[in-house]
Amino acid sequence: MEPSASRAQPPPTPPWQQVLQRQLAGLPELRRRRLRSFEPGKASANLQAAGVPLLDLASNDYLGLSGHPAVIAAAQAAAAVEGVGAGASRLVSGSRPAHRALEQALADWLGRERVLLFPSGFQANLAAVTALADRHSLVLADRLIHHSLLTGVRASGARLQRFGHNDLADLERQLQTARPGQRRLVLSESLFSMQGTSPEVGALAALCHSHGAALLLDEAHALGVLGPGGRGLGHGFNGQGGQPDIALVSGTLGKAFGSGGAFLAGDALVMEWLLQFSGPFRYTTALAPPLAAGALAALRQIQALERAGTPQGSALLERARRWRDGLAAADWPRPPGFGPILPLLVGDAGLALELQHRLEAAGLLGVAIRPPTVPEGSARLRLVLRHNLPSGSLERLLSALGCPPQHNRPCS
Ligand SMILES: Cc1ncc(COP(=O)(O)O)c(C=O)c1O
Repeated sequence: MEPSASRAQPPPTPPWQQVLQRQLAGLPELRRRRLRSFEPGKASANLQAAGVPLLDLASNDYLGLSGHPAVIAAAQAAAAVEGVGAGASRLVSGSRPAHRALEQALADWLGRERVLLFPSGFQANLAAVTALADRHSLVLADRLIHHSLLTGVRASGARLQRFGHNDLADLERQLQTARPGQRRLVLSESLFSMQGTSPEVGALAALCHSHGAALLLDEAHALGVLGPGGRGLGHGFNGQGGQPDIALVSGTLGKAFGSGGAFLAGDALVMEWLLQFSGPFRYTTALAPPLAAGALAALRQIQALERAGTPQGSALLERARRWRDGLAAADWPRPPGFGPILPLLVGDAGLALELQHRLEAAGLLGVAIRPPTVPEGSARLRLVLRHNLPSGSLERLLSALGCPPQHNRPCS
């Protein structure tokens, strides 16, 4: 039998697909994201000059520990004994000696009562906000905090107010708007991932303390690099001796620790609450044991270098200062902040992408960060330093960047 004309018609697109199609069709080209495959040490598939390896100026592997032999060996050994995955939640059968050892080592290192591991920093932040705020709370968040913290605020149902980026006077004004007796939570980061900037953490903690507000500090990009021995910029604020307390410190293991996963560090009370009540902690497969073992080996490296008097964080900060000076001397806008994240603020998304392409053509990997990840009109090329960059990298970068916009003298 011949198929009828009506049967040959494609089926109508279901309404849920129509919504997705409309949203994708409305996405301007400059906002369209693409997955890029990058194999460290190998040539980029996109690179014209085949065979030239791309130099990584984009990842957050600040200390180069993801490829450290001791970190790799620890992860391999754990995989051989424990298997690759934990197979269950921490509260079922997923808790392993590697988790306990890492939690204890991090708690000792940071001087906090207890640490709990999470499979990712995104999840840790979700858990942290929902532990410290509920629908009756007021959350005051820096205007530029990470998306995971905002997701936590939405999940908590709390009222959200934003304060100016690192603007403590604005925060103080807003703290006064809380209703008497209302639970208050302040959210900030110690090194903002797209800005490279840091708040005055001591003053921030003291302000929260004086208003009875809990402070959640995301140290994702600072741990291992900034603060005493890489312990973060919030190190020392643990409420002892009546000093201000950072209620929860959030850290990831996928950046300077060269592994994956994350943790929250705090006092015994808040950590016990998380264990008993937090969905993002309880209802998820535990961090893969090889990642926990790799992160512990990375922590031991960081501690050993501190003991030897050669903390890599300090060397990285010195390099960051030289790179900022070098960029400013070449008439590029001096990247804000002092840490290893150097955003080259160019404003225009098209120009940021063009710079990314110029770098790639010269064998360098630096990524254009565009709205909506950053505010409209503030697109940037995000450059990230690692302690093990080859010498001459800054000169290669300056030559690849070419002439800055509005440059009024001859360009080499
Ligand atoms: C400031 C900040 N917090 C949290 C996260 C999430 O960490 P993870 O990559 O471990 O999920 C990131 C990662 O991009 C981050 O930059």
